[in-house]
Amino acid sequence: MKNSNNVVWHHATVTRSRREQLNRHKGAILWFTGLSGAGKSTIAHAVEEQLHRLGCHTFVLDGDNVRHGLCGDLGFSPKDRTENIRRIGEMVKLFVETGIIVLTAFISPVRIDRERVRSLVGVDDFIEIYCRCPLGVCEDRDVKGLYQQAKSGKIKEFTGISSPYEAPEKPELVLDTNVCSLDECAGKVMVLLSQRGIIGK
Ligand code: ADX
Repeated sequence: MKNSNNVVWHHATVTRSRREQLNRHKGAILWFTGLSGAGKSTIAHAVEEQLHRLGCHTFVLDGDNVRHGLCGDLGFSPKDRTENIRRIGEMVKLFVETGIIVLTAFISPVRIDRERVRSLVGVDDFIEIYCRCPLGVCEDRDVKGLYQQAKSGKIKEFTGISSPYEAPEKPELVLDTNVCSLDECAGKVMVLLSQRGIIGK
């Protein structure tokens, strides 16, 4: 995998903790995971909106967006999904060093891929948020019309239909998006961020 030899890490004098002091909040990664249509992006953006209004520095990375650029060469085979999450893991590792709160909305269906990111970035920085929603509800919502196409066989290897989703075993937070409103879900995330001292109480 690694082909770049003879490169030496350059240490910045403007460190993460100095950036965090300037930002007046801590850096963190809010890693939303769940089926397509479970509400990951919607909740991530709602939380970002609230954080932004509080003066926090944030950024949302979203599956559909990243796959247009950085990961545009990847499909949905198990190997490509793993590579997708690996690249995003490396990216969020850099983001969190900037002292911002980065919110990711990727299906990230494979437990070990998510755990690899957790170990890469450091356990304290990785907050796994499981957007739990029954498959049937996601299918009914079918916001992008993709479930219909997956069921008719037009889209192959679709998560939940023809490709597996492994639910987190010990996520930092579970949001039952078919039960709780968007406001309630976003509120729970904000409470967790305060409890963990990432933002002020
Ligand atoms: S992941 O599995 O590698 O984490 P990612 O979150 O980047 O997936 O992309 C998921 C998005 O791609 C879905 O929200 C959906 O819009 C689109 N998509 C297209 N094909 C598939 C597929 N076969 N399985 C899942 N999502 C797909």
